[in-house]
Amino acid sequence: MATREIIEAPDARLKVVSDPVTRFDDELKALVADMFETMYDAPGIGLAAIQVGVPLRVLVIDLQPDDEDAEPELCHSHGGHEHYHQPTRREPRVFINPEILDPSEEHAIYNEGCLSVPEIYAEVERPARIRARWQDADGKLHEEEMDGLMATCLQHEIDHLEGILFIDHLSRLKRNMALKKLEKLRKAA
Ligand code: NI
Repeated sequence: MATREIIEAPDARLKVVSDPVTRFDDELKALVADMFETMYDAPGIGLAAIQVGVPLRVLVIDLQPDDEDAEPELCHSHGGHEHYHQPTRREPRVFINPEILDPSEEHAIYNEGCLSVPEIYAEVERPARIRARWQDADGKLHEEEMDGLMATCLQHEIDHLEGILFIDHLSRLKRNMALKKLEKLRKAA
């Protein structure tokens, strides 16, 4: 596993429409592992493969932040050596070739951000509930109803597969302001 470099706006690669995954092989599993490591390292709650320069319909999501304030737990389970684990509430989820079915007419607004648009946040309105269909890393098909942050996050990530960023949902004025702010932050860094 390794972290990969995250591409940032306005890089043209972020506008690419990603291709469906057809081979559920070790290369795919290695990509997924690297994407999780990159996302946790950033840290972020979602990452699309195109954000690390791979134009495939692969997403990773984990809405649970690490619980850094939690008390370390004493662990006896490894050959009798006592040691401590930092408990985490990680809930890693992989979505290959995801699709949205039945978006609700009711909308929800979240203050969104994106690892490819660092330090910029803006309110985006999306369907509040969806049914999602996707494959896991073994190619098995899944379907699930989603709402709340999970529904919003999956829609944000699926947008990446179509070459769409959350700032593309804003008015042109707000989008240009966001891109200018990003350029300023980059120059200052
Ligand atoms: Ni994003």
